[in-house]
Amino acid sequence: MSSVLDLARPELRRLRPYTAGAYEPDCIRLNANESPWRLPGDKSERGLNIYPPPRPFDLRAALARYYAASEEELLVTRGSSEAIDVLIRGFCRAGEDGILICPPTFDMYRLYAGIQGAEVVTVPLSERDDFALDADRVVRAAGEHTKIVFICSPNNPTGGSIPRPRIEAICDALAGRALVVIDEAYHEFANAESCLHLRESYEHVVLLRTLSKCVALAGARCGALIAAPEVIEFLGGVLPPYTFPTPSTELVLSALVEDSLRVSDERIALIKRERQRLAAAFLDLPAVTKVYPSDANFLLVRTRDAQAFAEAARQADILIRLFPAEPALADCVRITVGRPRDNDRLLQAVAGVEWIDES
Ligand SMILES: Cc1ncc(COP(=O)(O)O)c(C=O)c1O
Repeated sequence: MSSVLDLARPELRRLRPYTAGAYEPDCIRLNANESPWRLPGDKSERGLNIYPPPRPFDLRAALARYYAASEEELLVTRGSSEAIDVLIRGFCRAGEDGILICPPTFDMYRLYAGIQGAEVVTVPLSERDDFALDADRVVRAAGEHTKIVFICSPNNPTGGSIPRPRIEAICDALAGRALVVIDEAYHEFANAESCLHLRESYEHVVLLRTLSKCVALAGARCGALIAAPEVIEFLGGVLPPYTFPTPSTELVLSALVEDSLRVSDERIALIKRERQRLAAAFLDLPAVTKVYPSDANFLLVRTRDAQAFAEAARQADILIRLFPAEPALADCVRITVGRPRDNDRLLQAVAGVEWIDES
């Protein structure tokens, strides 16, 4: 019977996993060549002198509850960036297999594929249509050696969500042919429903989530890869043991409690209100030609002169993002929605931006 793991690198499926040393809290540890003493000032619960567990099991349980998944369906990663890396390493043979992406999109898919020696097939989003994704073209372009199709929804840097029927059409068409990885890094800022439940119908669907955006923990580097248990078990053999640091585990566990999650929810609601206010204010500026619809914590803004726009922001000590390497975004800037006072300051800074009219 065929399995989703038939898509994985066969030589990795045969690789013997690493056997971790036993951990028993009540025993003296003379089995892992660690220091027997804590460093002065080490206030961590576990002690930083000893290795973390091979996988952060408590954190996995907490994240599984948070995302309403089972523990067997979840792999904790150092940010969802590491999840992208481990997927490509696990499924793409260098020089033989590849991934498919829909640019402009998150650039790390391309980067990790390049590092692994995997080919990158591109099906650009339609610029004329607010960067819409053409599901039929994606399905047609996915070739025999395409092992992973990345769908970023809401998409970075364009901001829009991919409509559910298009995602499902791709999942239907690619069953048994490729993994469909749905990157929901910005989902919490969207009004659309998450695609998390699609994994119940499709064993080749993988979801990526992160605490970097919505829970204010970018510095803790905590992401989650959610997929069928056999995919998680296989990737658990690709991701080396002991990678998730003890301080991050303890910090994230202390943050995933009702009080701080309520604060996060309030802030998400504020970001969504500010996103709307900023979009309306940008549209009133003579230097702006378009503000793309956004379901994320940023706005993609088309300007008459992106350099001049960014320079005006820089004059007020504000950094915004340009895309010099992406022709479709040559005139665009990506602006993260900040605190209301930061947003006011930006609006003031760009109000008088002038541009060279080349018409
Ligand atoms: C679409 C998307 N996916 C994944 C990531 C990676 O986030 P992290 O590694 O912080 O979880 C980002 C970061 O900006 C992103 O924009």
